[in-house]
Amino acid sequence: MSSVAEAAAQALRLVAGADPKLLDIVLLSLRVSLTAVAISCIVGLPVGAAIAVSRFPGRRGVIVVLNALMGLPPVVVGLAVYLLLSRAGPLGTLGLLFTPTAMVIAQTILITPIVAALSRQVVEDAWEEYREQLRSLGEKRFGAAVTLLWDLRFSLRHDHRDRARNEQGRPAARARAGHDPAHDRPRTQRRGVRRQRDGTAAVWMTSTMRAPRSLLPLRVEDLTFAVAGRRIIDGLSLTLEAGSRTVIIGPNGAGKSVLLRLCHGLLQPTSGNIVWNAPEVRGEPRRQAMVFQRAVLLRRSALANVAYALGVAGVAAGAREARAREALHKVGLDALAAHPARVLSGGEQQRVALARAWALHPEVLFLDEPTANLDPGATHEIERVIGAMHGAGTKIVMVTHNLGQARRLADEVLFLHQGRLLERAPVDRFFKQPASPEAAQFLEGELPW
Ligand SMILES: Nc1ncnc2c1ncn2[C@@H]1O[C@H](COP(=O)(O)OP(=O)(O)OP(=O)(O)O)[C@@H](O)[C@H]1O
Ligand SMILES: [Mg+2]
Repeated sequence: MSSVAEAAAQALRLVAGADPKLLDIVLLSLRVSLTAVAISCIVGLPVGAAIAVSRFPGRRGVIVVLNALMGLPPVVVGLAVYLLLSRAGPLGTLGLLFTPTAMVIAQTILITPIVAALSRQVVEDAWEEYREQLRSLGEKRFGAAVTLLWDLRFSLRHDHRDRARNEQGRPAARARAGHDPAHDRPRTQRRGVRRQRDGTAAVWMTSTMRAPRSLLPLRVEDLTFAVAGRRIIDGLSLTLEAGSRTVIIGPNGAGKSVLLRLCHGLLQPTSGNIVWNAPEVRGEPRRQAMVFQRAVLLRRSALANVAYALGVAGVAAGAREARAREALHKVGLDALAAHPARVLSGGEQQRVALARAWALHPEVLFLDEPTANLDPGATHEIERVIGAMHGAGTKIVMVTHNLGQARRLADEVLFLHQGRLLERAPVDRFFKQPASPEAAQFLEGELPW
C-alpha cells in the first residue's frame, strides 16, 4: 500500500514539477493520437459519406465489413503492424519499427473504420430525409455528401446521442465587399431574358440579355408511374404552357404529389415521357424549383438555408447573403433570419422553403400544398408572394386542397383522380360547371375515397 502511495506521490511531484521527460512523453502521445485522428477523419469522413449517398454492387458487404472493423482488437492491429514493419517484414526496410510513425499507423488503422462507419450511418439517415430536396436544388452527389457531413457535424461529435443539440444555427457567410453584381445571378440567368408565350418578359433578368430557350412548354406524354403493379399515374398526357398559373386539385391519393415529382425529375416514369422545351443540362444550375408538402431544411439558420441554395445555383458567395435576406423579407421572416431553421414552427419553415425558391428566381415553380400548415394571415402572405413570383415571370404549378385558394390563384385547374387527368378547365368554368361527374362530386365534398 505504501509503495502505491509513494508511486502516486512521485507521479504528482513529476507533474507538478513539469518534469521535462514526462512532458516529452505526454506531448508525444498527444502528437501520435491527434495525427492518427486527423488522418482517420480525412480518410474516414469522405469514405463514410460517399458510401451513404451512393449505390453500387456489393455496398451492403462493404457496410458489414466496415461495421465489423469497428470492433478490431488493438492487440491484433499491433501485431499486424509489428509483422509488417519488423526487419523481416515487407516494410522492414523503412526502419519504422518502434517509432512514433509506427504508432500513428496502428492507431489510424484502428480509428479509420470507426469514423467511416459512424459517418456512413449518420449521413445515410439524413440522406433519406434530404435526398429529394438536394436533388431538387440541383446538388450533385459529392456536394450533397459534403453538405450533409457539415450539417451533421454535431451528430458525429456527440455520437448522435442528443439530436436536440444538433439544432444549432450558423452565421451565414459575410457578404464580400466590392463584388461584381453581374455575378449575383446564376449562370443561366446571366445569359438573358426569358420570353414567355404570352409575350411578357421575365423581369428576373435584364432586358439587354439574349434569351435562353424557355423550359416551357412542358409536354407530358402518356405518363405512367407504377409501383408493384399499381398504377399511381395512369396514362396521363398534358401540356403546361408558360404564363398561366396552373392549380392541380383532387382527392387524397389521386397522385398529385407524384405527378409534381415526376415533372420535377425526382421520380422516373415507368413509361411515357416528360419533355421540356429546353432540356435541362446536367451540371448546370436548375431553372425549376419545388416547394414540398413538408419543408426540408438543413441544420443551419434560415438565412444560411437560402444562401446555401443560392450557392448550389452558382451565385457568387459575396452576393448570397443580401439576396437571401431579400427573399426572407418577401415572406416576412426578417426577424427570424438568424434562427436555426429546424426549430422554427411548421408554418415558418414552409415560408423559409418558399423564400429559398423565391431567391432562386426559377422559371417554373412546383408547389405542393405550400400553405397546408399556415394560419389565414400567413396563407394570404404566401399567396401574395406566389402572385409576385408569377408576376416576375415564374410559371406556377401548384397543388392545393384549399378550394378558395385555387379560385384566388389559378388561371386554370387540373382535376386529378386515381392517377388520371379527368378535367382541365379555366378556373371560373371549373368551379361553375365542372364537366366530369367526379369533379362535381369532389366540389360537393361527396367523392368517395
Ligand atoms: N414512392 C412511392 N412508392 C409507392 N407508392 C407511392 C409512392 N409515392 C406515392 N405513392 C402512393 O401513390 C398514391 C398517390 O400519392 P400522392 O402522394 O401523389 O397523393 P396526393 O394526390 O398527393 O395525395 P394528398 O392529397 O394526400 O397529398 C398514394 O396512394 C401513395 O401511397
Ligand atoms: Mg400530396
